[in-house]
Parts: sequence; C-alpha cells; structure tokens
Amino acid sequence: MGAAGRGGRFKLALDVMDSISVRAVCDIDADGLADAVESLEAEERYLDYDDMLARSDLDAVILGTPMQFHVPQAIAALNKNVHVLSEVPVWVSVEECRELVTAEGRSSATYMMAENYTYQRSNQIIKEIVRQRLFGTPYYAEGDYLHGGKPSISS
Ligand SMILES: NC(=O)c1ccc[n+]([C@@H]2O[C@H](COP(=O)([O-])OP(=O)(O)OC[C@H]3O[C@@H](n4cnc5c(N)ncnc54)[C@H](O)[C@@H]3O)[C@@H](O)[C@H]2O)c1
Repeated sequence: MGAAGRGGRFKLALDVMDSISVRAVCDIDADGLADAVESLEAEERYLDYDDMLARSDLDAVILGTPMQFHVPQAIAALNKNVHVLSEVPVWVSVEECRELVTAEGRSSATYMMAENYTYQRSNQIIKEIVRQRLFGTPYYAEGDYLHGGKPSISS
C-alpha cells in the first residue's frame, strides 16, 4: 500500500527474504503505481485498497499510506486474516487504537508496527557490544535519534 511512495521503500528488506514475493501493489497515484509495479516486480496492481483485498490472494500487507488510513486499512486486512506491517504512527486517536486492538484479537493474523529502527545495523552492533560486555558493565546510557531538519524559526 502506498507503493508509489513509502510502501515501495520496503523493497530492500523484502529482497533479502527468499520466502517473500510481492503479489500486488496499490496506490491512488496511477503514474507512480506503474513504476512501482516494475520496481517491485508485482503481478497485480490496484488503485483501490478494498478492491485489492477482495480480489488478491495475500498473506500480508505493508501499509505505507498516510497516517489517517493506517487503522482502517489495518482492520480491513485483519478482518480477512491478512497479516499487517504498518508504518508509524499506528493511529490518529485513542478510540482508533482500541478498535485496532479489538480487531487484532479477533483475527488469526498478526499486526506489527514498522517502528524498526531497533533492527538497524548500528543499533544491533551496539546491542552486541553490550552483550559481549565490551563496554564493561553499563550503569547509564543515553540514546538519541538525530533526525535531519532545519530550524523552523530564524532569528
Ligand atoms: N518509519 C519512518 O521512519 C517513517 C518515515 C517517513 C514516513 N513514515 C510514515 O510513512 C507514511 C507515508 O508517509 P509519506 O510522507 O510517504 O506519505 P505520502 O502522502 O507521500 O503517501 C504515501 C503514498 O501513499 C499513497 N496513498 C495515499 N492515500 C492512499 C490510499 N487511500 N490508498 C492507496 N495509496 C494511497 C500516496 O499516493 C503515496 O504514494 C506516513 O504514515 C508516515 O508517518 C515513516
């Protein structure tokens, strides 16, 4: 989902797993979708998510759409017992969050939030260094996620 944008960025991760192939891609941007079909080597393309869920035989969906769509699209997949990997943020209201938890409880499929920086190589390396006690015995640590950005206010 959102294959012409953020959804398509999962390609590198998908490529390293032989067990995964992209059956279908979906995006409301028809031009971008054409490129996504090619780059993701998808068999099917859809401009409408519900249409894709109804017609395609999917084990899992990756949601790379804007945040207001995450919960409704995740619930639609879970209701069909299709696994979900969703971009952050999960939800836009607490009520939505409750609905998602209920839907996941009903479903035989699994929901996962794609806040996956934990698995980045640099973070995994630090974890391994700590595990091997190469830092000694840590008693205090701080971590920051330094996001690129320009100051919004100039003086
Ligand atoms: N994990 C991270 O580090 C990280 C970084 C950036 C963005 N994000 C998240 O990724 C998501 C996408 O962000 P973005 O800036 O690329 O958004 P975007 O507005 O560019 O949309 C992404 C894609 O979704 C498509 N789309 C929009 N509505 C759709 C619909 N109803 N059905 C199908 N496709 C639809 C768009 O055409 C576009 O190709 C956001 O939820 C954002 O929070 C996460």
